[in-house]
Amino acid sequence: MQLAPMQAALTAAYVFHTLFAGLWVGAVVLTAWKVLPLAKDGDVTPELLGGVAAGVSLITRIGAVVFVATGGHMAATVYGAEGLFAPPRGHVVLTMLTLWLVMTGLVEVGGSKIRSALDEGKVRTAARDAGTFYNAAAVVGFVLLVLGGYLAA
Ligand code: HEM
Repeated sequence: MQLAPMQAALTAAYVFHTLFAGLWVGAVVLTAWKVLPLAKDGDVTPELLGGVAAGVSLITRIGAVVFVATGGHMAATVYGAEGLFAPPRGHVVLTMLTLWLVMTGLVEVGGSKIRSALDEGKVRTAARDAGTFYNAAAVVGFVLLVLGGYLAA
């Protein structure tokens, strides 16, 4: 491959990776910080809570494809197999990969708790059951962005 198309693909990978990082963590933090506490107080309709949870799940699932594709491309191009196991930056990338898995799991479990409680029409229960998972996911997301900032510097 020529250098210019390779460089363009790498730039696109960085752009989409950073874009989804902000979008995903932002959506999860706002849900954990504002939407779920309001829902716990019964100030949110089932439709709104269901819509927010569905939106966060959608971003998580599209994000899974985007993170694996772009992160994998960046890791292969910039680090290679050896670089990934070299401290400190390689280890930070591997930690990022692990935390992405953890955060995805937390959001998926939180989303399924919301869906099953909403099936019975229980908004407060949905928010209570999912709260811990979304809070933990928001903290993991924060750590992921800190690691991203470290790698970007
Ligand atoms: C499959 C999971 C992931 C893999 C394999 C991965 C891999 C990578 C790699 C290889 C880099 C480039 C490092 C460098 O330039 O030295 C990077 C940068 C970055 N990653 Fe990830 N990543 C993943 C998931 C995530 C997630 C879930 C977030 C945040 C929600 C995130 C946020 C960032 C940020 C903000 C950067 C810095 C971009 C820049 O240099 O401008 N990554 N990641």
